[in-house]
Amino acid sequence: MRITHDVIIVGSGLAGLRAALEASQHFDVAVVSKLHPLRSHSGAAQGGIGAALGNEEEDSWLWHAFDTVKGSDYLGDQDAIEILCKDAPRTIYELEHIGVPFSRTPEGRIAQRPFGGHTKNFGEAPVRRACYAADRTGHVLLHTLYEQCVKQKVRFYAEHQMLDLILDEHNEEVQGIVAYEIRTGELNTFAAKAVCFATGGYGRAFRTTSNAHANTGDGLAIVLRNGLPLEDMEFTQFHPTGLYKLGILVTEGARGEGGILLNNLGERFMERYAPTVKDLAPRDMVSRSIYKEIREGRGIEGKDYVHLDLTHLGMKEIEKKLPEIATFSKIYLGIDPSKQPIPISPTCHYAMGGIPTDADGRVRRGVGIAGRTQIDPNGDPKAAQIIDPDGNVVRGEFSSLGDDRDIVKGFYAAGEAACVSVHGANRLGTNSLLDLVVFGRRAGKHIVKYLRAVGTEQKPISERAEETARAELKAIVNREQGESAVTIRDELQKMMMDNVSVFRTEETLETAARSIRDLRQRVAKVTVMDKGRQFNTDLMEAVELGHMVDYSFALIESARWRKESRGAHSREDFQARDDSKWLSHGFYFLHPDGSSHIETRPIKLTRFQPKERKY
Ligand code: FUM
Repeated sequence: MRITHDVIIVGSGLAGLRAALEASQHFDVAVVSKLHPLRSHSGAAQGGIGAALGNEEEDSWLWHAFDTVKGSDYLGDQDAIEILCKDAPRTIYELEHIGVPFSRTPEGRIAQRPFGGHTKNFGEAPVRRACYAADRTGHVLLHTLYEQCVKQKVRFYAEHQMLDLILDEHNEEVQGIVAYEIRTGELNTFAAKAVCFATGGYGRAFRTTSNAHANTGDGLAIVLRNGLPLEDMEFTQFHPTGLYKLGILVTEGARGEGGILLNNLGERFMERYAPTVKDLAPRDMVSRSIYKEIREGRGIEGKDYVHLDLTHLGMKEIEKKLPEIATFSKIYLGIDPSKQPIPISPTCHYAMGGIPTDADGRVRRGVGIAGRTQIDPNGDPKAAQIIDPDGNVVRGEFSSLGDDRDIVKGFYAAGEAACVSVHGANRLGTNSLLDLVVFGRRAGKHIVKYLRAVGTEQKPISERAEETARAELKAIVNREQGESAVTIRDELQKMMMDNVSVFRTEETLETAARSIRDLRQRVAKVTVMDKGRQFNTDLMEAVELGHMVDYSFALIESARWRKESRGAHSREDFQARDDSKWLSHGFYFLHPDGSSHIETRPIKLTRFQPKERKY
């Protein structure tokens, strides 16, 4: 079936809904998603959304920006980070005004709690910057934005799995998407003049993850398959506190409220690794510290976990501020956190890399200024230079605010699927929810500007993408012999966990590279037991698996390429950060013959000169 709207947003998490809310004030907008919107993974976000409101103590957007740059291990683009942090307070009040029920201070202001890596006065001590609704912040944001979209008559197509993006014959302009309706087994072509991918993260490629089953990086794989690049794919965040063995998130807000990490000796070990902020160090550092404790034999009972201790907070405080954590601990581990410490270990949580965009959500194709940033020896970030791949100084400005030559017309991305890049090599907690709504809104605004300029009339689009998708599905269903997607997926998740998680070496990455090549070949021969049309989840798992192996390939190759340690990319064979060679983003391109290459793009510095990162 052919369905036409002015704008198609793919994905109904916070970034997609915020973009839809903005664009639907002027144009006809539809949201296509593989789940019901209220089941989107944004709803699992717990601890808070960052903004320097200064409600509980002095704060400033500039301190927030500094923390974000330092947290990113100086890989984030500072002009985009300034946009994020300056716009944060306005964003929170806007959310409050449309109905978000934030927790309150006794005086009735929006309450704020400390979170990892957020400090006052450029690193002096932790600051209360996370606005929250108990430990259900994502849940209340999602419900509020969904209600607003319904009120504004956004059209929703739930339970549609996207299969492909439709570009014009020159690959310059977007024309729509192809999606499979899970309920009926129908293939639909959605034609639109503007398309925004807000398809979320990819944590399901790892065995231990806080991510929902749906987080299979569909948008990323589809972008790669259409010849477009992915940016900074080596940076995958492991959240320090997942419920042991299950990976279910235990919010950093638990440490913000006073929880501490303990090893087998009962030591508060973060005091050794981050003396100033201790348990509120950024996630990359805390996750590495936990693994170091475990490797050195100080895991609880010598096993591969440590304790998160909330017992000193008392049940009243836990039930008021962390009710979900109290429930999860009881249901899944049989633990009462007011009486016993919670067993935790790091869990794959967030993708810093993704579909490259400018600060208005426009998808970059990867042309224009190539190279790396060279810092000024006198310490002036504004005097940084761009060095091209041949070693020459490039004259010209690099900016996160877009370059018309570099973008695909009408194509946008926002949220975790996108890389603006505000998180660089390591995201700070609470900056994800902020990114979703700040850059979701900006994408929606730019879509309006774009459609006002070019009009909404659509050119005829070819049936080719739909025919290709139909043939691919048919091939899977008709194949009599082959492996099941589940078998291959289990192997993929184990392999990624063993070789590409918190610590990496050339050896583990080579093992991963060999393995992913083999898995990709096996995926091409996958088969399904269910041959029916309605709710064929077997078939959808096979489709998702194809996406998972493609972006995992990009992740592994990007991790092999970056021969330094920075943020969440920790190479035991290159332990130092090396700004002289690696102050650049990597744009990864996958070619139809299975080969790939990576190009570099400079980092934008504005105010903060890269320094050694200590907490
Ligand atoms: O720990 C948490 O509540 C997660 C927040 C985040 O990822 O920003």
